[in-house]
Amino acid sequence: MALIAKQGNLPKTPHTEFYVIPDVLALEEIQGSYGFSGAWSRKIHVRNYPTQVIKDPKLANFSFAPRLESEAPFQPYLIHSINIPYEKDFLTGRIYLCAGTNSNMSIIKTEKSFPKDTYFKNGEHHELFFIQEGEGVLASEFGELKFKKNDYIIVPKATTYRVDLTSKKVWALLIESKLPIEWPAHYMNQSGQAHMAAPVVETEIEIPVLQPFKDEKGEFLVFVKAPCGKVTETVLGHHPFDVSGWEGALYPFIFPILNHHGIAREIHTAPPVHQTFQSGQVPHNGFSLCSFVPQMEGWHPKEVPAPYAHLNVDSDEFMFFCNGSYGARKGIIQDGSITLHPGGIAHSPHGLAARKSLDSRGQISNRLAVMLDTYFDPLVITKDALKYADSDYATSWNRAVDGVTGT
Ligand SMILES: [Fe+2]
Repeated sequence: MALIAKQGNLPKTPHTEFYVIPDVLALEEIQGSYGFSGAWSRKIHVRNYPTQVIKDPKLANFSFAPRLESEAPFQPYLIHSINIPYEKDFLTGRIYLCAGTNSNMSIIKTEKSFPKDTYFKNGEHHELFFIQEGEGVLASEFGELKFKKNDYIIVPKATTYRVDLTSKKVWALLIESKLPIEWPAHYMNQSGQAHMAAPVVETEIEIPVLQPFKDEKGEFLVFVKAPCGKVTETVLGHHPFDVSGWEGALYPFIFPILNHHGIAREIHTAPPVHQTFQSGQVPHNGFSLCSFVPQMEGWHPKEVPAPYAHLNVDSDEFMFFCNGSYGARKGIIQDGSITLHPGGIAHSPHGLAARKSLDSRGQISNRLAVMLDTYFDPLVITKDALKYADSDYATSWNRAVDGVTGT
């Protein structure tokens, strides 16, 4: 994050004597990425350190370890997340679909908020949610974020939070990353602002609204996710949202996908122009996250709007289709479909999509999709994803699709 924010009541000079409650020394906490070298924030706790656990930690009765299917063939996959039932709650309802060394992807479909008085922190990964359907509130020590359909929510690693639904149900895509999730470095100028030719404007984010601090004693359950997806149950003796103020560049925020302002070109443009976020040091590790928003197709008189077949050997491609309007996959996908294309296998538009796309020169489609390209981090499909996979997808380029033949 490049946008430095400040909220609430905190000392003017860092790490100096400060009182929010008379005669009670306020206590400072730094939450940082890349150790002490990346984006960070300072939080002021009114009375207690966040370390004050009152019970021995114990393993939770659930795990977030993806159930990898190591025997699955090396092939492209199509997964229909629309068929995943709404179950469990927003905390425990993660259905892991695939995982690599640095990143993994899951779907949450639920009608229930976090259990009462329960909190979570992901100590293994930074998190990025995409809200396909529904709305709610993500409350953290930084404040409250009200989210809705088509929002990205970025939650830095180890942020303590809970989620409450304000609609009957929520359907979300969740991407976890060991490496920090940030704006692409090449979008930023030397002063840390997005330059004026970038498709994203960093001031179009929504930042948490800090709530009055909670100076409460009791037993507060915080589930912590650790390496290998192991979840540990910890209990604090004070409310985790005891922050009177914070400042810095590391905090949860929302960026609506439609705030990605697409850049069109006379001829077809390669996916990097659609990039919204990245994790790590792209293209050496981490991932690029692209937003395929409605925008004008190329208008060259001989333009072929459909993409080419492509083989990106150092990059696996995970794509979530918010609707079925993506030209290259029409007739194959529906709302919430997901394709997983391994880097070692070429993929292309289906059937005669390239020929059909000629009619869309200079037109604006209503496509909406989120794409993740990992770098040097092959993704392994899970047993849970295979329950919702199209068993004929690998041969789908060779069969009739929506009136379009594959020959
Ligand atoms: Fe692709």
